[in-house]
Amino acid sequence: MALGGAHAAETNDLAAVYRANCAACHGVDRLGAMGPALLPESLERLKPDALRDVLRHGRPATQMQGFAGVLSEPVLDQLVSWLRTAPAATPHWEADDIRASRTVIHASGSLPGRPAFDTDPLNLFLVVESGSHHLNVLDGDKLEPIHRFATRFALHGGPKFSRDGRFVFVASRDGWISKYDLWNLTLVAEIRVGLNTRNVAVSDDGQWVMAGNTLPQTMVLLRADDLSLARIYPVVGKGGRSSRVSAVYDAAPRGSFIAALRDIPEVWEIPYATLEPRVIALDTVLDDFFFDQPYRHILGASRAGGGQVIDLDAGHKVADLALSGMPHLGSGITWYRGGREVMASPNLKMGQLSVIDMESWQTVATIPTNGPGFFIRSHEATPYAWTDAMMSPRRDTLQIIDKQMLKVVGTVTPSPGRTAAHVEFTRDGRYALVSLMEPDGAIVVYDAATLREVKRLPMDRPVGKYNVFNKTTRSSGTSH
Ligand code: HEC
Repeated sequence: MALGGAHAAETNDLAAVYRANCAACHGVDRLGAMGPALLPESLERLKPDALRDVLRHGRPATQMQGFAGVLSEPVLDQLVSWLRTAPAATPHWEADDIRASRTVIHASGSLPGRPAFDTDPLNLFLVVESGSHHLNVLDGDKLEPIHRFATRFALHGGPKFSRDGRFVFVASRDGWISKYDLWNLTLVAEIRVGLNTRNVAVSDDGQWVMAGNTLPQTMVLLRADDLSLARIYPVVGKGGRSSRVSAVYDAAPRGSFIAALRDIPEVWEIPYATLEPRVIALDTVLDDFFFDQPYRHILGASRAGGGQVIDLDAGHKVADLALSGMPHLGSGITWYRGGREVMASPNLKMGQLSVIDMESWQTVATIPTNGPGFFIRSHEATPYAWTDAMMSPRRDTLQIIDKQMLKVVGTVTPSPGRTAAHVEFTRDGRYALVSLMEPDGAIVVYDAATLREVKRLPMDRPVGKYNVFNKTTRSSGTSH
């Protein structure tokens, strides 16, 4: 092709290459169509090598074919940087686009109001299989899959359940919010709220769904019933600066949504009653968040290091946290130890867990682990907490910590050399389910008392898994 020459770096030429070879699937404006959106925000998590590789060799078992031999090597290299560059015209996604994107497959009230299967609907698990973009529904009693939903490309943030566990809402990277009925095992409605979305939250009263976007910089409120658009909140701070949303949370005990913002030192609280944002000004941008069980306090960590405690009622900082490395507060959990509530969080940079007293905010223990990790999980009915070493060479191990002694008392290695992380318990706390996060991975089920493997269920890169009961009752052993 004529564009293979050394001077093909001209943006116009690359735009033409894109139009001729990619636009049919990825959209003329790179906003996505049958294939995913290809904006810089969309590709943020794709490593440089991975991006080069997908352009050359495609993705097996998908419509994405490799372009090695079709486009010249220099053009492929230039496409990589072109895809990382924002389009000349800022992409828009306004109220009209949002409304026009909505599909309702089953109107509310049109499906039977009882589960179509004979198992405990509160002990279902949803497993996100990120390899081929599926949601696997596991029966937590029999520990068997009962259904598999195809999802939009790349789900972001965890699935969120309605309080009765019947409905689940998921957000995709490209801004699609999908609502599934777990009792009838069907997709109910979908809408595209943005071009790049972080996550979704569902109000405890069952009325509202709030999505947090990075592109455009908005939050979008939907009616939970039919996913119709209720309101768009442009995220503009007190100083007039706009911000991407890091995440939105449902603060059920407060009857509000809370939004963490990525670019401005503010936290927004949006009560279900008024739907008007209340701005809490911080002295620094917080990157990573943990809420205590009553949602009275936020424990936050800043990019610069260090942590702080914000009292949401008072609307200001009440304590500093002495933390080293890069604690992953967002996946922290709490439990009671000698009558005191403690919080433990893994560390993304250091092989240690920090244990903090939730009254004095002092660090009561630092537990050495196999390496930097991402998650810690437990359950009210087990004496142990499980943590991974996912960010280290020991990423194939999980360590088991005694919650009273604050010591490592066991280790499991589901498959030597393969990444094992993210634990979730059955409703009764009897079994711990671990993800082998590989393309030909599995959910490995352990007896939570004996630490013996009970069974493994093959899955395609299973990442998170979510138990309906533990999530809807806001178990202190898991994130909400
Ligand atoms: C026939 C449809 C089709 C065409 C043509 C096509 N793609 Fe794709 N592309 C897809 C699909 C579908 C996926 C998602 C694959 C998956 O599930 O991982 C994809 C994935 C990708 C990804 C990975 C995105 C991510 O976030 O992981 C990139 C990058 C990409 N395509 C770039 C291109 C470029 C550049 C071209 C043109 C040179 C192109 N594609 C042409 C369908 C297509």
